[in-house]
Parts: sequence; structure tokens; C-alpha cells
Amino acid sequence: MRVAGVMSGTSLDGIDVAIVDFVGDDLHVVGQHAVAYPDDVRRAILAVSNSVTHTGSIARLHFFLAELYADAVRAACERIGAPLVSLDLIGCHGQTIFHEGESIEFLGRRIASTLQIGDAAVIAKRCGVPVIADFRPDDIAVGGQGAPLAPFLDWRLFRHSQFGRIALNIGGIANISVIRAGASLEDVIAFDTGPGNMVIDGLIGGFDRDGAVARRGRVNQPLLERLLSDPYYKRRPPKTAGREQYGAEFLAHFAGLPLADAVATATELTATTIARAIPDASEVIASGGGVHNSYLMERLAAQLTQPLTTSAKYGVDPDFKEAIAFAVLAHESFMGRPGNAPGATGARRAAILGKRASP
Ligand SMILES: Nc1ncnc2c1ncn2[C@@H]1O[C@H](COP(=O)(O)OP(=O)(O)O)[C@@H](O)[C@H]1O
Ligand SMILES: [Mg+2]
Repeated sequence: MRVAGVMSGTSLDGIDVAIVDFVGDDLHVVGQHAVAYPDDVRRAILAVSNSVTHTGSIARLHFFLAELYADAVRAACERIGAPLVSLDLIGCHGQTIFHEGESIEFLGRRIASTLQIGDAAVIAKRCGVPVIADFRPDDIAVGGQGAPLAPFLDWRLFRHSQFGRIALNIGGIANISVIRAGASLEDVIAFDTGPGNMVIDGLIGGFDRDGAVARRGRVNQPLLERLLSDPYYKRRPPKTAGREQYGAEFLAHFAGLPLADAVATATELTATTIARAIPDASEVIASGGGVHNSYLMERLAAQLTQPLTTSAKYGVDPDFKEAIAFAVLAHESFMGRPGNAPGATGARRAAILGKRASP
């Protein structure tokens, strides 16, 4: 069966599509395609993210993004020279505009919540292919934080009977999956280590190509120490981070610093919080857009005791691992099997994820 996985992460750089063939449970990545968000789309998403927002804008974006996802899937099929109808299923993560995985007191109840938009019915009807979307609420409904969901694929790809391995994804936020030697899915521990590229991107108002700006700057040690003292980094998992922590307000910490010093300090914050979160293992396997920031990778490697590689070593393009993950999670749901890793999300039990829309 052929499944398209569609992912658009917190970086708001755009939409990644991976097309994956399953023979039994063996997966083979057939092709992939990335579509950038236009600037006005990125601004519209930011405008409704996190805070108290205007409902009409959210509803419009919910349907508008579905059109973009459908277009991206069509473009990915064209790219690999396969007709849209060769797809049996689409797994679409959607765009997160709010995530509060830890429950809070709300109207007299404890409520955890998350909201990914991009309507599944519209994608299914446009593409003529069934869609599974909205993966996170199922995990929250059984007591989990709804994130991270990548551990399922990390475990499938990287588990080893004798070596412990760490899968590290550096997107807007950075997260790790800890896969000890011989681990079952239930044994996998995973959590957000803190910022990935989000603070760097926020300071630059774009991204720091190959870490060129950070390389020119000097780390502001007092500020770095102050940022590192955030109790989040010492907390035990499960824990998730988001634009809530590392968005506009966070950038105020860097006010008054020359841009290069600010970016160098933000890069060091990302490298240090990742390195400190990583337990003993034989290898750290990185993915996500952050692997292209060679300065960040150098700073991280310098603080690790184990070798730092990328998922390319295992045949998975680092830019598409998360899109592949949502093809794999959709495939699991389609087969009636759970896809969350309770050790990663804190869920009471495994759960079948997602909602299905028909073509
Ligand atoms: N050549 C590069 N140099 C530095 N950073 C890069 C480069 N290419 C991509 N990135 C970073 O990767 C981010 C996108 O990573 P991605 O894995 O797509 O994150 P997300 O899943 O949050 O969307 C960009 O916002 C940018 O910060
Ligand atoms: Mg992205």
C-alpha cells in the first residue's frame, strides 16, 4: 500500500510530503517533496497561533491549509512521476496553532488540549484518497501530552539489540527519542529538549544559513547561564515545549545584544540543552532542518561524548523524517494498530491515532 505523509512543523517553513510504500510492514520511501509557505501564509498562521484569536480566521485557515496540503501531495506525486490515484492513503499532521499537553484547570476541570488545523475532508475530496489526520488528540484522551509522536518511527528505524541510540530531531523545537539496546516501543523515552531553530530563526527573521551569523558572534555567557537556569531543562519527561515558550516573548531576553552575539548565544542554548538532555548511548542520529546549520552541529558535537551522525546514514533524508513518520502513523492507524509511545507521551495506554476522512 502507498501512503503520503504530510508534515508542517513549528518552524513554519512549509509543507513536507513523503511518499512511502509498505510491503507488509516493511517501508520503502519512494520519494519526497517540500513546498515552502508563502510569507503571507506564514504570517496568517502566526497571527492565530497560541494567543486569544479571532475564530473566523482560524476557520478560514483550517480550510485554506487543507487546499495547500492537497496541492503539496499532488505536487509530490508529480515529482515522483506517480499518479495521485496510486496513493492508498494520506496521513496529514496539520499545522499546530495551539498545544498545551500538560493539563490546566479550566472551567472547573483539568484540561490538556492541542489544535492542528488543515481539514481532512477537504484533502480527501481534493485528492480522491482517504485521509487520516488529527493524530494528537487520541493520545491526550488517554492521559498523554499528545507529543512527541515521532518515537514510533525512530524505534522502527533505529532500534538495535546491542546498541543504545538517540534519535534527535532539530526542527523549530528539538526533541530526542531514547532507544536503549533491545528496547520495545513501550521502553522508548522521548521528550522536547528545548529550542531547536526557533529562537535563532526568530532573532534573524529568517534562518541562519549554515550558521554564518552565529559564527561571527560571541556567546554572552551571563545570558546563556540565565537561560539555562530555566527549570524546564531539569524537569523529568514527559515534557513538551512549543512556540508558547520560545516565541516573541522569549526573544526579549536578547534585546540590546548585537545580532551576531544574540544568534551565537541562541545557538549555544540549543546545542547545550540538547547535549545535556542526552543520556548514555552509542550514537546520536540527527534529523530536521537544524542539521543544515553546520555551526550548530559543530557546537553540539563538541559537547557530546558519542558520535553525531544524521538519519541519512540509515537511508532517511533528514529533512523528511517527520513526514515519513506521519505516513507510518497513518499506516498503523489504517491497520488498526496504535501509534503512540506511552513512555514518550505519558499516556496511560497505547491508542490508535487519528480521524479518517473518505474521498
Ligand atoms: N541551510 C540551513 N542553514 C541553517 N538552518 C537551516 C538550513 N536549512 C534549514 N534550516 C533550519 O531548519 C528549519 C526548518 O526545519 P524543519 O525540520 O522543517 O522544522 P519544523 O519541523 O519545525 O518545520 C528552518 O526554519 C531553519 O531554521
Ligand atoms: Mg518544516
